[in-house]
Amino acid sequence: VAQRDALKARAAQLLRDKGAVLVAHYYVDGDLQDLAWETGGIVSDSLEMARFGRDHAAQTLVVAGVRFMGESAKILSPEKRVLMPDLDATCSLDLGCPEAEFAAFCDAHPDRTVVVYANTSAAVKARADWMVTSSCALEIVSELKRRGEKILWAPDRHLGRYIQEQTGADMLMWNGACIVHDEFKGLELDLLREQHPEAMILVHPESPKGVVDKAHVVGSTSALIKAVVEGSAREYIVATDNGILHRMRQLAPGKTLIEAPTAGNSATCKSCAHCPWMAMNGLQGVVDSLEQGLGEIHVQEPVRGKALACIERMLDFTA
Ligand code: 13P
Ligand code: SF4
Repeated sequence: VAQRDALKARAAQLLRDKGAVLVAHYYVDGDLQDLAWETGGIVSDSLEMARFGRDHAAQTLVVAGVRFMGESAKILSPEKRVLMPDLDATCSLDLGCPEAEFAAFCDAHPDRTVVVYANTSAAVKARADWMVTSSCALEIVSELKRRGEKILWAPDRHLGRYIQEQTGADMLMWNGACIVHDEFKGLELDLLREQHPEAMILVHPESPKGVVDKAHVVGSTSALIKAVVEGSAREYIVATDNGILHRMRQLAPGKTLIEAPTAGNSATCKSCAHCPWMAMNGLQGVVDSLEQGLGEIHVQEPVRGKALACIERMLDFTA
């Protein structure tokens, strides 16, 4: 503990000395989340991370999350230095949607408006008309449907299906999934629900339909935290990465939080619901990035400029 506290103090000092701000996601380690709050940074969902990084005066952003989050920050603020604790922290949705295959998919359907989830590479975003995150996807797709546009959606098939069911929009889907949320199981959730009949069920929409259909609240990480804080229930079953429990416990200390079941977490694995790439972020990575300039994100032109258009469209729409 003493060693961890010393590392945290060192990271805080470096953030101050270098005029840097820490922008973290709710899934990263609790120490990093606390460091962000204690040093004037933020912990939030991917939409607010992008907005905060763009609007903050600091010329160095340390983005603790996965690679697409650092890339979005750099695309929005090319003049800033964007560092990440570990550049290898990627995302299965990003990995499962390679640029060339995605471009061929778009080429085959030129009549469709291309909407991509934030969890994609800069090159994929460069090919899109709109970027969305889980906190604004419903709103934006509803608007596109109202305008009579047909949609090409990538890459998360569960989020896409959920949005399609909610809006009735004409959506052609890429077949991607998040390896973390894909593991939540509807049948096991039924059993857990029987043991906790009063519990409110909170589900991130990257989860399969059998889980989403049982939810009281479906939403982004921010929406799920809000549901715990504002909900009248005493118990909450949470179907998303368990890194989020840190913030939920801080904001709603009296409430009982129960991890939703995955294929393995009851018997063999205590924490299956944790993203291996989010877990690559640590205090040491923050120190190394600031001390040695490691983990800097670069996004080359013209990809950056093209990707900027679809991110700005989303930020303007949700402003
Ligand atoms: P949010 O935008 O809801 O924070 O989700 C990001 C993510 O990667 C979920 O797995
Ligand atoms: Fe990607 Fe899933 Fe990890 Fe989120 S939790 S970063 S969607 S792999």
